[in-house]
Amino acid sequence: MKKTPSAKKACKKVATPLYKDPKQPVEARVKDLLRRMTLEEKIDQLTQMPIGGDINPNNPGEWRNFSPTYGSILSYCGGTKKRNEFQRLAVETTRLGIPIIWGFDVIHGWRTTFPVSLAQAGSFRPALTEKLSRISALEAWNDGGVNWTFSPMVEVAHDPRWGRVVEGYGEDPLTAQVFTKAAVYGYQGRKAEQLKTPGYIAACLKHFVGYSASEGGRDYAYTDISRRALWEWYLPPFEAGVAAGARTLMSSFNDITGTPAVANYYTQTEVLRNRWGFDGFIVSDWGSVSQLKAQRFSSDPAESAAASVVAGNDMCMSDGYYKNLKALVEDGKLPVKVINKAVERVLRVKFQIGLFEHPYAPEKTKEEVCWLPEYLQAAVETARETIVLLKNEKNTLPLKSQKGKRIALIGPNGDKSLCHIGWWAALARDDEKHAPSLLTKAREFFPDSEIVFEPGCPEPFPASNAETIKKFDPNQLPAAVEAAKSADVILLALGEHGHQSGEYHSRRDICLPPFQDELVDAIRKAAPDKPIIALVTAGRPLAFQEAAKKVDAILYLWQSGYGASQATMEILTGKVNPSAKLAMTFPRTVGQIPVYVNAHHPARFDLHDYQDYPEEDGPWFPFGYGLSYTTFEYAEPVVKKGANGTFKVKVSVTNTGKKAGAETIIWYLHDLEAYYTQPVKRVVSFEKIDLEPGETKVVSLTLTPEMLSYVNEDGQRQLEEGTFEISASEKTSASFTVSL
Ligand code: NOJ
Repeated sequence: MKKTPSAKKACKKVATPLYKDPKQPVEARVKDLLRRMTLEEKIDQLTQMPIGGDINPNNPGEWRNFSPTYGSILSYCGGTKKRNEFQRLAVETTRLGIPIIWGFDVIHGWRTTFPVSLAQAGSFRPALTEKLSRISALEAWNDGGVNWTFSPMVEVAHDPRWGRVVEGYGEDPLTAQVFTKAAVYGYQGRKAEQLKTPGYIAACLKHFVGYSASEGGRDYAYTDISRRALWEWYLPPFEAGVAAGARTLMSSFNDITGTPAVANYYTQTEVLRNRWGFDGFIVSDWGSVSQLKAQRFSSDPAESAAASVVAGNDMCMSDGYYKNLKALVEDGKLPVKVINKAVERVLRVKFQIGLFEHPYAPEKTKEEVCWLPEYLQAAVETARETIVLLKNEKNTLPLKSQKGKRIALIGPNGDKSLCHIGWWAALARDDEKHAPSLLTKAREFFPDSEIVFEPGCPEPFPASNAETIKKFDPNQLPAAVEAAKSADVILLALGEHGHQSGEYHSRRDICLPPFQDELVDAIRKAAPDKPIIALVTAGRPLAFQEAAKKVDAILYLWQSGYGASQATMEILTGKVNPSAKLAMTFPRTVGQIPVYVNAHHPARFDLHDYQDYPEEDGPWFPFGYGLSYTTFEYAEPVVKKGANGTFKVKVSVTNTGKKAGAETIIWYLHDLEAYYTQPVKRVVSFEKIDLEPGETKVVSLTLTPEMLSYVNEDGQRQLEEGTFEISASEKTSASFTVSL
């Protein structure tokens, strides 16, 4: 048909706006899009909302109004088909078509569940964390359309009463730095370009900063953090994560010495942006802008919103408080450039992750994209490296052949799955199929033995001892005692409920849950000469010295995910030699908290820590503790001066036992005297090596001036002349002198 001139005009191609052109540089796209936006559209980009139906334990789960102009939706898990329908509304029906960024707490797996972060750190193999973060990203994107995970949680924590120690990499800043980087690389890729490819997702370093310092380990409590502590302990993992390219951070709930984190200009703008050059965005934590009222910072929603955005917090999670910014700008009380800056950062990340090019997620079945054999294999591989052998009297482990023998598995966690999965397990729930209980795996590993199972006492209740106590059943203990009497070997499955640690699961006491001490006692009395092995599941260090004395061996399983029971059986039978070490110190009792590596010198060493237990100075199990089925011997380290102010250190480590094993060499530095006093031992590096029986390897370390220096309360590094000691084991160390 011949076209009339007017029809021709109607067909004239409308030029694609620059911001939609993937060939344009990100900064140009950001600028172009920003200039087209109304104030309302900008503020919506700074708004993150749940849209209900979510299973996030922190969320109320009610349905809220969805707006296709919101910048982000969190915790949506209604499947990718529905998620894409929402996304289509944003991309196709809004004026500018800005896609929504979908966030979720993918902490130690999406469906395939890996060991919790605290356990991962104890593997001292960051490559495993990179691998499992990669898998988590793939599953979360393919099965949930997740673009952004609220992980890694990188907070250094000294108090195991705080429920959230389970989410982080322990108490040592250096370990946390290394694992933070690994997680960021796993989620985002090692090269900025990779992030654009679907299946790589943006990481979020949280919670910025110092939430873990909450008083008394209570959740959401006040934190009193000196600048020195901030720079020495709490900031380093964030700095490492930013250097690794993490695209976002989440500000924390806590009030940092008088200024709540979400409204803290020093941390969010001066440190993060001005000093570290971070150009991604910060999201507030759940309701933390509105909680400024509870913290008695401000009861005025507009003031709270303004204080947060001015301090540098860009996106507001869940409470919709940033809606109040509109009137402030219109009334001339808040310069629009503050909003523009925040929007710019959000848009930048959206462009960097390729969201405009790939707004829709694959619509596949979960069976097609989750639980792939290599994912499940990685779960077992990681679990093997995270389970810690805490005690092994008379070489009780590995077990000799149990053919024709009777094994009693006793304890409330023996037939459970959730105790291995833990808190924040994204879509994984109680799931015997993928996270088989110890009982299931014991039957598989000991086909020629009789396996008897008795819980012995009630399963712990996640939130209250009183609830556990109510479930007391008088028949459980006698049945367990009978099982123990007739057994050849006793496995005691003890420890926490899978949800007994995690957010708002702080505990005043960190002993075994109710009835478990009594259970251990009764079993030992019923079977005085039989080998008893405790298998303890927990999301934090537990203090159970008395029970520990009554058993011959202890495997601390943490919550090691889908591979937990498989790896436990492999270790029990000697197929795998345990190699994990503790990334967090175990106190003897709650009264000893805080007790951690990197502690500073006391003013007197000649008197005991506590008068009531003078024989119990020091922790129960220190950071770095963990036994093996073989033994390792360390030679004296040798130090030589290198170029440019460096020192080269070497130590030979020999496997002196009869089994192949892996050993983590942790290097501790002691700056003997400084104007700015230094820790008794500071972790400066670690390396895990594999050694055959009789084999010796030389492990080297280059100490750079940066490693020898310390950070002062203004975050500046300082190097002082003087004597240092370097050690890789308790028994040996070498000293050297730094002169400037
Ligand atoms: C609150 C938690 O503190 C945080 O870690 C989590 O990412 C958000 N809720 C979103 O679920």
